[in-house]
Amino acid sequence: MKEMDTTKEAYELLSQALEVEYQIIVHSPQVARMIPEKELSVKVEQLGLDSVRHADVVANTISKLGGVPPFPRFEPLPELLDLKDFFRKQLDLEHLALDLHTRAAGILGEQSGQSLQQLAEDERRHIKVVEDIISRLT
Ligand SMILES: [Fe+2]
Repeated sequence: MKEMDTTKEAYELLSQALEVEYQIIVHSPQVARMIPEKELSVKVEQLGLDSVRHADVVANTISKLGGVPPFPRFEPLPELLDLKDFFRKQLDLEHLALDLHTRAAGILGEQSGQSLQQLAEDERRHIKVVEDIISRLT
């Protein structure tokens, strides 16, 4: 019985993590185009690409647990987008992803934990990247 609870808990964390990754994936190309400074724009694109890779790892882990990855759900961008506001929200998402990947890795241990731990490491780096982006936006 304990094993079933563990799987269910991991599934819930991973499903939430997948939604966070989708949210970052879906807006990154458009937001990257809105940033005139090439160096920053490339960083934003890269965050989106990392999230594509993360979503793949998370969806695969859900499948290995015998679950079905949830259908992508995301909020549309506001019509008048404040970039700084957007990246403050993305910073929250990166922190949330770090927390979710870390907790799921802790539950799953050896089997899938290592790849999730790696995602958590990426999120630590992403947090620094997004903080840097925010500090450079006027
Ligand atoms: Fe991620």
